[in-house]
Amino acid sequence: MAVATGLKQEQVVAAAASDNALERLHALLTEDLRQVNALIISRMESPVPLIPQLAGYLIASGGKRLRPLLTLAAARLFGYQGDAHLLIATAVEFIHTATLLHDDVVDESDLRRGRESANSVWGNQASVLVGDFLFSRSFELMVETHSLEVLRILSRASAVIAEGEVLQLITSNDTATVEADYLRVIEGKTAELFAAACEVGAVIAGCDKQACAAMRDYGMALGMAFQIVDDVLDYSAVQAQLGKTVGDDFRAGKITMPILIAIAKGNEEERAFWNRTLERQEQEEGDLDHAIALLRQHDALDGAMDRAREWGERAIAALEHAPESVLKQALADVIAFCIERDY
Ligand code: IPE
Ligand code: IPE
Ligand code: MG
Ligand code: MG
Repeated sequence: MAVATGLKQEQVVAAAASDNALERLHALLTEDLRQVNALIISRMESPVPLIPQLAGYLIASGGKRLRPLLTLAAARLFGYQGDAHLLIATAVEFIHTATLLHDDVVDESDLRRGRESANSVWGNQASVLVGDFLFSRSFELMVETHSLEVLRILSRASAVIAEGEVLQLITSNDTATVEADYLRVIEGKTAELFAAACEVGAVIAGCDKQACAAMRDYGMALGMAFQIVDDVLDYSAVQAQLGKTVGDDFRAGKITMPILIAIAKGNEEERAFWNRTLERQEQEEGDLDHAIALLRQHDALDGAMDRAREWGERAIAALEHAPESVLKQALADVIAFCIERDY
């Protein structure tokens, strides 16, 4: 198999050693990612100490770095040799981090990446404002690339993410929500950034329109699968492994894929249960366990996983015409990682 341009042989050898596709992607892009991590640290600096303190707390807690890896991989896959992809990948991770800060305020989540969420430690106001700072910093980084196209794609993505989160606010607690509404929400809040992260990598590498569109399609489908799995994990994960509080979606009354399936298959009594707990938000001790039992009884978690796999197939198909390389293989393999993951 051909080696993608710019990758060192030892990175390829190191990558081959891991049986975890995300780690393989990390290993292939380890040099680039090291520089992105350094940029993340230097660009969150500010004379206002609370900003690097709060942002650094979340960033140091880890995270999979999946989105910046997608940007780096897409750029390298098409033979990019410059260093603007590092700035772009950093901008992508800043957008992601900003949305996490805002999302945990909106969702009232108190656990993120295995630690107390920033809003639990510093409060909602500081989290929202530092999120705004990171959003703004991401635009400064994009401007430094001198690519108006990158700026166009990522600024649009930022607006679409916000639209997705607002749309979710409207559909939460509404058990009449249909699958099309749910898909619109997750496309906006999650898949759009995956799509943009992949597309901008291809754009900076100077790909033609078709190749850029294919990378975008890959990211979009991967992002859809990723969020459906996230919504399954919110009911099925081991909390210590997930690093987030299991059951948050239920407590917030989010109408996610597993819930949609269970409601559709439920009898009258069950519908009354979903109405009380999700719509009226009258929840009692034992309700989450009962909800999980209903999801299992109706194979709703498995059903949702089947949907995620369908999106995974679309992601694979989008890679068809990408140049053959270890990176293409890693991008293909990371689809299964996203579907089978437990964190
Ligand atoms: C969490 O994304 C937000 C969702 C879109 C579900 P990740 O699961 O990629 O979060 P980190 O960066 O690895 O913590
Ligand atoms: C993803 O939705 C939110 C963002 C795009 C930031 P979730 O609300 O499900 O994400 P988690 O579960 O809190 O990470
Ligand atoms: Mg959330
Ligand atoms: Mg979630």
